[in-house]
Amino acid sequence: MFDQTIRPRRLRASDNLRRLVRETRISPESLIWPVFVIEGEGVYEEIPSLPGQYHYSPDQLGRMVERAHAHGVSRVILFGLPAHKDERGSSAWDENGVVQQGIRKIKALAPEMYIVTDVCMCEYTSHGHCGILCGHDVDNDKTLEVLAKTAVSHVRAGADMVAPSDMMDGRVAAIRRALDENGFIHVPIMSYAAKYASSFYGPFREAAGSAPAFGDRRSYQMDPHNGREAMRECALDAAEGADILMIKPAMPYLDLMYRCRQRFDLPVAAYQVSGEYAMIKAAAKADLIDEYGVMCESAVCIYRAGADILITYYAPELADAIRKGDIG
Ligand code: PBG
Repeated sequence: MFDQTIRPRRLRASDNLRRLVRETRISPESLIWPVFVIEGEGVYEEIPSLPGQYHYSPDQLGRMVERAHAHGVSRVILFGLPAHKDERGSSAWDENGVVQQGIRKIKALAPEMYIVTDVCMCEYTSHGHCGILCGHDVDNDKTLEVLAKTAVSHVRAGADMVAPSDMMDGRVAAIRRALDENGFIHVPIMSYAAKYASSFYGPFREAAGSAPAFGDRRSYQMDPHNGREAMRECALDAAEGADILMIKPAMPYLDLMYRCRQRFDLPVAAYQVSGEYAMIKAAAKADLIDEYGVMCESAVCIYRAGADILITYYAPELADAIRKGDIG
């Protein structure tokens, strides 16, 4: 007989045993669900580019809270669709802006809900770029001021954490300083530290009405060719006071998740972006893949690569999958 003492298959023999030896352990506590708040009243509409996700006007956010509760999800990241856009994106820091209204509504309905806000200008500017323009490019240092004002106004409205996604140089330091000066020393910053100029954001831009009116975002978001540069971005954000580092998108950038986890001791977040979600939805609809299986596997792989936190449109369904023990 073939002399085989070492047999990896031994540990794969039963479901019970496989669950015992899982290397990657996932908790529903590590999920954050993106939510789109739209200005107006009585709006509760499915987003065509993101099946299963909705636009909620502030008065309809109870529906979101109910769905979150039903799945045991208690962390959200808010994006706003304002009624008014201008060159400077002034509705981003309006005390009665759409996100500010949304935060107050959610906190009134569900005080235990942990609210992160995306801090960026692209949804609020008439030109759709992530900051204040100077000619055809975004003026970095002028943008820092409006980002800081926006972050402070979110926190004043009740946000628990802010997440700058603009990729301006120095924005974590600027936001940290502004929060501290306003007495919000305990509010953490989750920085979109390595955010790439990615084609995977297409469905989001449709959902948020934030596509740039001209040009693209390559003068501020990162070039997908570069990995070492992502480590530089992470190091800068950590030095500026970021509390959590995010890599975005997730699946095509797992090498960076891994490198970030090895190199930094801060929590690492992954953003499984709109294009990743929409691709799974579309392939499943065409009967090409099993949606549940692919959803589960992609989440597991993101955690295995090093993510501690996962921001995903699948948060409610993944929370169920984890509780059932199908993953994690
Ligand atoms: C705002 C922002 C974007 C996303 C998150 N914050 C879009 C962009 O940078 O164009 C993308 C999220 C997704 O695709 O799910 N700047």
